Amino acid sequence: MSSGDPPSGTGHTPNVSFRSYRPGDIPACARLARDAWPAGPIIDSRELELAGMEGYMEYSLGASNWAEIASTSEGVVGFLFGRIDNYSEVSVPKTQSLSEIPALLKSFFERRQTDPRLLAFVWSLALTELKLKLNTPKSDAAIEMLIVDSRHRGGGIGSALMERFLIAAKDAGSSLVTVYTDDLMSDWQFYEKRGFRRVATFHDNITSHYSGSKARGIVFAKNLEGRDPSVSRRIRR
Ligand SMILES: CC(C)(COP(=O)(O)OP(=O)(O)OC[C@H]1O[C@@H](n2cnc3c(N)ncnc32)[C@H](O)[C@@H]1OP(=O)(O)O)[C@@H](O)C(=O)NCCC(=O)NCCS
Repeated sequence: MSSGDPPSGTGHTPNVSFRSYRPGDIPACARLARDAWPAGPIIDSRELELAGMEGYMEYSLGASNWAEIASTSEGVVGFLFGRIDNYSEVSVPKTQSLSEIPALLKSFFERRQTDPRLLAFVWSLALTELKLKLNTPKSDAAIEMLIVDSRHRGGGIGSALMERFLIAAKDAGSSLVTVYTDDLMSDWQFYEKRGFRRVATFHDNITSHYSGSKARGIVFAKNLEGRDPSVSRRIRR
């Protein structure tokens, strides 16, 4: 699903390679996501938490046509899912995130997880998706999910995953990249440091519901037109 560029290392973490996502990666990605965003008191079972995360991975992939994995000999250490309009390899279905919620519900039910707490989760997600739809500027690329294993953070893997995505977006003619994050569970500062500007904030139903604490959603955007020193081509060899 991604560029298929030859593997390239990051500045600080040795032996990291990048490859396209494969369906068998879902459990490893879900584990990284669960570790990055541990559920609050509302979800009290590890099994439920992981099932929910696997469903969320599939949901996020449904909106993506770029999906890249960073791996080392120990396995998946990071990933980025995103959408690039006009990306030549795979086009993302022209559906809105809201219309993918039934698919998310289906993936939960297929796992026989009919717990009503999951329905509350999906309702919060629907509200957040609606707010995102109202608050996100029209963009031709979006980062859907970016996570690096906590044991490997600060080594440049997140930047490399993002730079590879931004280069592909630029090559596809994208002019504006957007990303949704939150101020409670996510490392939103990463985007500010990489030249994204904050364009909207709102009460974040899904993060508040999931964490059990009040959270704000943040929409960031980055203009890709013109020379942008934070998007270097150094990793494309
Ligand atoms: C955001 C994330 C993907 C970055 O991955 P990474 O491999 O650590 O990224 P890099 O090593 O390339 O760069 C990290 C940079 O972000 C900064 N950063 C990351 N988290 C930060 C935080 N909470 N506060 C301040 N700065 C932060 C680091 O200081 C570093 O900046 P520098 O290069 O100027 O020193 C990783 O922290 C992560 O997976 N976080 C949990 C999930 C998440 O929040 N994803 C993004 C929001 S959806």
